[in-house]
Amino acid sequence: MGVADLAEYPWDAVAPYAEIARAHPDGIVDLSIGSPVDETPRLIADALAAATDAHAYPQTVGTPPLREAIVDWFRRRRGVPGLTPAHVLPTVGSKELVALLPLLLGLGPGDVVVHPRAAYPTYEVGARLVRATPLASDDPAQWPEGTRLVWLNSPGNPDGAVWDAAALRRARERARELGAVLVGDECYAELGWEAPWDTQAIPSVLDPAVTDGDVTGVLSVYSLSKQSNLAGYRAAFLAGDPGIVARLLTARKHLGLMLPAPVQAAMAVALGDDAHVREQKERYARRRARLKPAVEAYGFRVDRSEAGLYLWATRGEDAWTSVGRLAELGILTGPGHFYGPSHTEHVRLSLTASDERIAAAAHRLHAVS
Ligand SMILES: Cc1ncc(COP(=O)(O)O)c(C=O)c1O
Repeated sequence: MGVADLAEYPWDAVAPYAEIARAHPDGIVDLSIGSPVDETPRLIADALAAATDAHAYPQTVGTPPLREAIVDWFRRRRGVPGLTPAHVLPTVGSKELVALLPLLLGLGPGDVVVHPRAAYPTYEVGARLVRATPLASDDPAQWPEGTRLVWLNSPGNPDGAVWDAAALRRARERARELGAVLVGDECYAELGWEAPWDTQAIPSVLDPAVTDGDVTGVLSVYSLSKQSNLAGYRAAFLAGDPGIVARLLTARKHLGLMLPAPVQAAMAVALGDDAHVREQKERYARRRARLKPAVEAYGFRVDRSEAGLYLWATRGEDAWTSVGRLAELGILTGPGHFYGPSHTEHVRLSLTASDERIAAAAHRLHAVS
């Protein structure tokens, strides 16, 4: 399969339900896509505005202040000491990296790319693009010989599942046995809700409790899209094995995969400020506390969802039926079918709607419960 052979974009199938939801007299509550709705924090927007003289080409590797900010952030927020600028690399949002990593690592036919069973679809897209074999598996013992790349996603999209340090360690050990690169896609790590993640930091795959300080073969991918309301800036980065980082840097230089200079400046400022991340987490906590009981009152069981930006819910019926029912209430959601074949009775509800819209959804659900 090449780029031209990729399937229709699955979200197009939701359009008829969006039309139904939009017809609700009090308007649509769109919980289908995890696109942030709150303003970009002023200090980040100001940093972007102050950096608009960008006459020179930006550095693919990132400016020194940005690389230092990433190193410092891993130490401060993720409990990962000991990184240096040679361990980190900015990316143009993380979706391009997720899609292109098999290509950039030189994978091809016969290579296996493991990804979660309930998964962000781009892991599979990236594997198929290079004609590698995608494999949906959450059990390291099942990862076969020939596995060259393993994607973990903790907290998970769509299901909000968290891998604790012991589970990450087992994954790391198995990846090492196989000679596979292990990548943790960790963009929801600041959004822990249920014990122990309400008080305890969600571990990174680079945590010393996972790696014993040896990051060989391991990468962490992080994005500021959600934690900092920067989805439109395309601001993300990776960190880990400096040998792999150097190879990726060379490939990305050849391909022109560089971050605009004003975005690099804004990112460095965003990474240095924890207050706006705390505020945004509080907003999502409020919305979750409002929406979850309403979804349950309506007859859904919310599975996992202990962290992250989504409620992963089932009524024990085909997800399209649930999507249809909710659309009649003016609430748009995504069916589990979009996240792999094993969760066709779940829907994903995103917390990315305003307080007012979340309250409207909760009110409608309670009214018919
Ligand atoms: C698990 C996961 N990885 C990566 C991304 C891509 O994020 P971005 O490209 O905005 O950095 C998303 C976005 O929803 C996601 O859910």
